[in-house]
Amino acid sequence: MSAMPSMAPVPAGLDTRAQLSVDNVTLQYKTREQLITATHGVSFAVHQHDRFILLGPSGCGKSSLLKSVAGFLAPAAGEIYLDGRAVREPGPDRMMVFQEFDQLMPWKTVLGNIMFPMQMTRRFPASEVRDRAVRVAAKVGLERFKDAYPHQLSGGMKQRVAIARALAMEPAILLMDEPFAALDALTRRRMQEELLQLWEQAPFTLMFVTHSIDEAILLGSRILVLTPHPGQVRAELDASAFGFAEQGSEGFAALHKRINHMLFGHQETAHE
Ligand SMILES: Nc1ncnc2c1ncn2[C@@H]1O[C@H](COP(=O)(O)OP(=O)(O)O)[C@@H](O)[C@H]1O
Ligand SMILES: [Mg+2]
Repeated sequence: MSAMPSMAPVPAGLDTRAQLSVDNVTLQYKTREQLITATHGVSFAVHQHDRFILLGPSGCGKSSLLKSVAGFLAPAAGEIYLDGRAVREPGPDRMMVFQEFDQLMPWKTVLGNIMFPMQMTRRFPASEVRDRAVRVAAKVGLERFKDAYPHQLSGGMKQRVAIARALAMEPAILLMDEPFAALDALTRRRMQEELLQLWEQAPFTLMFVTHSIDEAILLGSRILVLTPHPGQVRAELDASAFGFAEQGSEGFAALHKRINHMLFGHQETAHE
């Protein structure tokens, strides 16, 4: 494949301050029997250091959008630009954290897992890799578990390793697909706090997928609400006005109510 297409510049008319532009993106899956449209004409812009949330019901195309930003799924229509270049393939500037606990390599230690992408991509000089891994392991509270293997870790610790491994690469954008959804409620809450603390210590650009309104408000500076399948943009909300919204605060409740109304109309629904 020619290298030319990846040099395509951002066309006039798109938000030039954006780090990531998703422009009118339709995503489809072709199976033998049918053509499934996952998203239809979705547009949004993510700015540097945003904590940008994709929120919507199961099946609305959140994971598909993240996959296409990661370069795993080419849009059927539309275009995605990162730092002014059209996305055509996966790259070390986009690191992904998944929900599943098995995203780590079971035969590698915590440190080995964190080092692996740095070694594979040679993003940093080889002499720096170990120190970088040790530093980021400490940042996520895993210094005592550097030499442990994944099967010796709790679910929360495994997700910390996956986060450390991604952040160690210093990606242009960190992509997270419901990373805390399989954790128990208390661990999940702690991990959300820790993610915010990491961001406060050294802000990064985050694109975070969730179907939880609570999680979206807790973590997001901006929230993109998607319609049910096939996903289209329902609304974009600036949550930064609410700061790090405290659960139980008036601001939190108001925003929760507004989003709940968008997603479910007048219907009363239980939290989560
Ligand atoms: N590999 C695939 N093959 C066929 N259809 C898929 C595939 N992955 C997802 N889909 C379909 O695309 C739609 C969006 O899926 P997905 O992006 O996983 O939604 P979400 O992450 O919001 O739950 C769904 O209808 C889903 O069934
Ligand atoms: Mg999903």
